[in-house]
Amino acid sequence: MSTSNPIHETVREHYAERIKSSASCCGDSCSSPESNLYPADLLTTVPSDVASTSYGCGDPITLASLTPGQTVLDLGSGAGLDCLLAAQKVGPEGRVIGVDMTPEMIERAQANAKRVNATNVEFRQGYLEDLPVDSSTVDVIISNCVINLSPDKEKVFNEAFRVLAPGGKLAVSDIVTDGELPEIVRNSLSAWAGCVAGAVEAKDYIGMMESVGFTDISIKPVFFDKQTVDSALDEMKLDVTEYPREAVYKAVYSAKITAYKPA
Ligand SMILES: C[S@@+](CC[C@H](N)C(=O)[O-])C[C@H]1O[C@@H](n2cnc3c(N)ncnc32)[C@H](O)[C@@H]1O
Repeated sequence: MSTSNPIHETVREHYAERIKSSASCCGDSCSSPESNLYPADLLTTVPSDVASTSYGCGDPITLASLTPGQTVLDLGSGAGLDCLLAAQKVGPEGRVIGVDMTPEMIERAQANAKRVNATNVEFRQGYLEDLPVDSSTVDVIISNCVINLSPDKEKVFNEAFRVLAPGGKLAVSDIVTDGELPEIVRNSLSAWAGCVAGAVEAKDYIGMMESVGFTDISIKPVFFDKQTVDSALDEMKLDVTEYPREAVYKAVYSAKITAYKPA
């Protein structure tokens, strides 16, 4: 699968490398179970190496309040942790679909699903901007630290709205900003791949969701994660004196985001 978009290419290479080397995406603080993103009892329901292969910045599973029988779609499913947790919540009558553009992630997610005998989960390779999912077929969309990575977030929200059934819920953990990022950070592709440069202001995130038709939109800050920001900025390999790191700490944060497609 190829795209002419350099952001897709950079992000895909970044995460293919991450899964091959078992490194985390946004720094250890955001992706290890020790960071307490999820309730501990939730993570003990999957093997520990599956629980620790997470690249997220929050807990969309708790945010989604899933119930048995629902159809769930995970945007940017990575190695599959959230899909496997969702699969337990929706049970054998429910169904979970994970979509990701990185083949190495799809392979790992499929292997993890096989390992835990999750038969109600499937993984599809594809773009968030052109979802390989039928319209109005999904009850709940979850996503963990992915929409910030898209070069065309409006298209992602349009697609999310299209595939949700009327009354469906979007429950997303993502990075947003409060104020503008320094230009040197905004222009760095590696800072984009590290979940920093692609993040948009919370008010613009809300505006994009409203413009495609979402209602009851809520964005709640979770934490200002210095370590996450640090590791993403370190990957840029710029001299720390070259840009105002404090400005980035202040601007970037993880958020719990919910919205609905009207019934
Ligand atoms: C930060 S990781 C998060 C993975 C997973 N949600 C988790 O919490 O572990 C981002 C994932 O989204 C995928 N991704 C990023 N942009 C994408 C896009 N535009 N379309 C499809 N997948 C995308 C990447 O391949 C990667 O697996």
